[in-house]
Amino acid sequence: MNGNAVRVALLGCGTVGTEIVRLLREQAGDLAARAGAPVELVGVAVRRPHKHPELGDLLTTDATALVTRDDVDVVVEVIGGIEPARSLLLEALKAGKSVVTANKALLAEEGAALAEAADASGVDLFYEASVAGAIPLLRPLRESLAGDRITRVAGIVNGTTNFILSAMTESGAGYADALEEATRLGYAEADPSADVDGYDAASKAAILATLAFHTRVTAADVHCEGIRHVTASDIAAARGIGCVIKLLAICERSPATADSPEAVSARVYPAMIPAAHPLATVDGAFNAVFVEAEAAGQLMFYGQGAGGAPTASAVLGDLVAVARNRVHGGRGARESAYASLPVLPLGAVPTRYHVSLEVADRAGVLATIAGEFSTHGVSIAAVRQTGGAADDGGAARLVVVTHAAPEAALAATVQVLAGLDVVLAVDSVLRVEDLGRKGVAP
Ligand code: NDP
Ligand code: HSE
Repeated sequence: MNGNAVRVALLGCGTVGTEIVRLLREQAGDLAARAGAPVELVGVAVRRPHKHPELGDLLTTDATALVTRDDVDVVVEVIGGIEPARSLLLEALKAGKSVVTANKALLAEEGAALAEAADASGVDLFYEASVAGAIPLLRPLRESLAGDRITRVAGIVNGTTNFILSAMTESGAGYADALEEATRLGYAEADPSADVDGYDAASKAAILATLAFHTRVTAADVHCEGIRHVTASDIAAARGIGCVIKLLAICERSPATADSPEAVSARVYPAMIPAAHPLATVDGAFNAVFVEAEAAGQLMFYGQGAGGAPTASAVLGDLVAVARNRVHGGRGARESAYASLPVLPLGAVPTRYHVSLEVADRAGVLATIAGEFSTHGVSIAAVRQTGGAADDGGAARLVVVTHAAPEAALAATVQVLAGLDVVLAVDSVLRVEDLGRKGVAP
């Protein structure tokens, strides 16, 4: 063993970990030259060693002992989930090891405790791979844009759900088949409900909002809806108004007004976006994120958002940065939460909506429904009726697209509509987002 090497313990060797080991071995020479010292793998903790015969003596099932071993400088965690990852990383940081992790669930819940532990020991805590796979996004937010004022970070940050929605939109694939394929390709979380119910994207939104707004935002602060309820008819309805459906993560800064202080918000939900919007063409497991900053204007980050090799690329980038700091002394940039802005609830965040209703097709129904929107202060942008019998008493499909309205006002409108005898069913309520682009939504 080289006495000057930066010695790495790897926790987990699944989809991502396997690729980390491969890259560490295949690119050992280049990594050493870039880091200023060999980057040497000295131990790998897994649950089932018999599944990893190629790792030989490096293997252990005792992750706790591994993270505090004297011959370990850096701990790379790709186990996932809260425990035991949380305890292991806190132990590692306390023992003076730098940490690289891809674990967004943990960072979105325990980011403050981990950052505190890293500060206390004066070591690095890097997690580029935790958001948007291979895409360099966190370092630009934390370092390149540190001199600017970010107003919005929005985009597609979950590869699995984007893969599923793309397949449903393009080939008419069924939801279950598309999810199975995304899992087979290594995109999905160990429990894929984290992807399809939006929790994975919500964790990523919390990390993005924390870095962008210098304000601690946790997963619990992020309004979160997944894609389970998106149907083929929603996708067809979106197509009917020139849109596609994407699972979006949106983090925004709201300026102070006479009545309220400056605040931030973070939300995740499936939304219709205009087919002409650049995000609409982001397909498969790719991710894309728009960052808007006062001086820089709009920036777009695009690339592979999931999968073993793309994620390992981001982990290795962090590992080289940590190794350089170990070799040359010093620490990398830390996150800061000094601004401590309040986090708005979803009810206060204005959005546009596409409401699809099955209604009685008779005189006065449209006026009644329009009246309810008006009563609740929700302004209608467009109405379209399809189907319906010519004779009184038939049913028709009514689609109402609104101007931006607070969630709470729309929810109250829909609640009243659902109770009207002329409304036979509220088929779907979907948001419509044009993310700041003018003139493209219906
Ligand atoms: P996998 O489920 O493929 O691998 C998890 C690994 O952790 C396995 O090797 C498993 O061991 C090991 N492990 C589980 N529990 C323990 C434990 N208690 N002690 C020691 N080892 C344990 O996950 P992924 O590689 O897909 O994901 C890892 C992390 O990377 C997660 O945080 C995920 O969110 C994140 N990530 C994943 C991406 C992806 O595309 N897959 C993209 C970006 C981030 P064994 O092999 O013995 O079962
Ligand atoms: N399950 C995650 C996704 C992995 O599908 O985006 C990448 O973080």
